[in-house]
Amino acid sequence: MSDQVTKPVLVVDFGAQYAQLIARRVREANIYSEVVPHDASAEEIKAKNPAALVLSGGPSSVYEDGAPKLNREWLELGIPVFGICYGFQAMTEALGGTIAATGDREYGRTQLSVVGGIAHAHAPESHEVWMSHGDAVSKAPEGFTVTATTKGAPVAAFENLDKRMAGVQYHPEVNHSPYGQGVLEKFLTEIAGLKADWTAANIADELVEKVRTQVGEDGRAICGLSGGVDSAVAAAIVQRAIGDRLTCVFVDHGLLRQGEREQVEKDFVAATGAKLITVDDRKVFLDALDGITDPETKRKTIGREFIRSFERAVAQALDGAPEGETVDFLVQGTLYPDVVESGGGSGTANIKSHHNVGGLPDDVEFTLVEPLRLLFKDEVRAVGRELGLPEEIVGRQPFPGPGLGIRIIGAVNEERLDTLRRADAIAREEMTAAGMDKVVWQCPVVLLADVRSVGVQGDGRTYGHPIVLRPVSSEDAMTADWTRVPYETLEKISTRITNEVPEVNRVVLDVTSKPPGTIEWE
Ligand code: XMP
Repeated sequence: MSDQVTKPVLVVDFGAQYAQLIARRVREANIYSEVVPHDASAEEIKAKNPAALVLSGGPSSVYEDGAPKLNREWLELGIPVFGICYGFQAMTEALGGTIAATGDREYGRTQLSVVGGIAHAHAPESHEVWMSHGDAVSKAPEGFTVTATTKGAPVAAFENLDKRMAGVQYHPEVNHSPYGQGVLEKFLTEIAGLKADWTAANIADELVEKVRTQVGEDGRAICGLSGGVDSAVAAAIVQRAIGDRLTCVFVDHGLLRQGEREQVEKDFVAATGAKLITVDDRKVFLDALDGITDPETKRKTIGREFIRSFERAVAQALDGAPEGETVDFLVQGTLYPDVVESGGGSGTANIKSHHNVGGLPDDVEFTLVEPLRLLFKDEVRAVGRELGLPEEIVGRQPFPGPGLGIRIIGAVNEERLDTLRRADAIAREEMTAAGMDKVVWQCPVVLLADVRSVGVQGDGRTYGHPIVLRPVSSEDAMTADWTRVPYETLEKISTRITNEVPEVNRVVLDVTSKPPGTIEWE
C-alpha cells in the first residue's frame, strides 16, 4: 500500500452534511482522505496514522449544551490541523481563543477581506465566500495570525505555521466559495507538506495490487455486471489482478436499453479481456412480470428473478472450475459513500451465499472483494478511464437496476418494451448530440402505456401513447431540478420520436423538481 492510504487525511465529521464533500475536495487535490466521527478517541485517531486532520462544520454552537467538543488530545499529536466553520470554532476553543455570539449572523454569500497567509491562495484581496454561522471567533488563540476578516467575523481565518495549524470560518469546500479549493490545497501541500500523488494511475495500480494480495495465487472470483459504471470498474480491476480466475456474469433481464447488452458483451470484454457468462433470461423476467402494474411488486419480482438468474450463472461458473477448485470470492462495486453511510468500518465481511445471491448450497461461502470501497464516484470513473474502459461505460448516467421495467407505467410486455426502447434511444442520441450529457444527471424516458390520446398524422387520426421526458439536474439524486434542455433539442426529440415510433403520438416534458416528484415515475 502507498503512503496515501496508510497515512490518510482524516476529515472529522462534526455532524454537517459537508464532511463527505470535504473528503471529496481533499481527494480532488490528489490527496487521500477518509471521514471519521468526532467522538473517535485519540488512540483511534493515532492508530489511523493521519497525515492531517480537517475539522468539518456542524450544526451546533460551540457553547451549546451537548455540542460536540474537539478532543484536545488530538491537537497534541503533532498532526497538522485545518478547521472549517464549526471545526474552526471548536479548534479555537480548544486552543484557548475566544468565541462570541456576535448577534450578526452571516448566512450565504459574504465578502471576505484577506490579510495574508494561505487565505490568499491566488485570490483577490476581497472575494466572495460561503458563510453559515451565528457565533464568531473574537480572539484567535495565542500564536495564531489572523489572515482574513468579514463584517460579521473579525477573525474569519487564522494560521500558525509552526504548529502547522490553520482554519477558516467560511466553507471552502462549496462551489459558492470560488477560491476555497485553493485554500484547502495550500493548507494540505504547503502547511501540512503533503504530496499530491493520489492520481487515477496510482489508485488503479494500488487497487489491483490489493486485490492480488486478497485473492492470492490461486483464488477464484465471480462478479455480476449490471452494465453500470461501478460493477464494470470493479470487475476491470479484479480482472487485471487475477486474469481468468475471474468470471463475470451478466444477466440480460430484457429490461435494458438499446445497445447495453452489446456494450457489456463486446466493448467491456474487448477493453478488459474478461471471461464473461451472459445469462439470457429475458423470457423468464417477462413471464414473471406478466400483468403486474404495482411498482413495488415489479421491483420485488425483478429482484427475486435476478437472484435466481445470478445463482444459475454462479452454478455454471462453479461447474466450469477445474476439479477441486471453488469460487471463494464475490466482487462487489461498493463505493465509499455507502461505507460511510453504513457506519464505516474496514476489513472484509464474509457473507453466507444465501444472504446475497440466494439459494446456493449452504456450504458455499463467499468472501467479498470490494475494490472500490475507498473511492468516490468521480474517482471510480477516473480509474475506469485509466484501465481503458470505453467512455459509454465509465461516463454512463445512473440507470435503475429494474431498468425499463419501472419506466413503463402499466404492465410490462415485449411490445411496450420495444416501443420504449426505440423512443429512449432517440432521446439519448439527441441529448448527446446537443452536448447535454454532462448537464443532465439522468433523463428517464417514460412510456405511459395505459394512456392513449388522440392525434393526427397524414390524413388519419391516431390513438397512441404519450412518452414523458424527465431530464433532471442533481448532485446526488436526493434532490433534483428539471433541466432546462434547449427547445431545439426538445423539438428534435419530439419530432423524431413521433415520426419514427408509430406507437407514440405525443411527447411531453416533466417540469417537476424533486421533491415533490421523484426522478423515476414509479
Ligand atoms: P427516485 O425516483 O427515487 O430515484 O427519485 C433516485 C435515484 O435512484 C434511481 N432508482 C433506482 N435505482 N433500483 C435502482 O438501482 C431502483 O429500484 C431504483 N429506483 C430509483 C433513480 O434512477 C435515480 O437515479
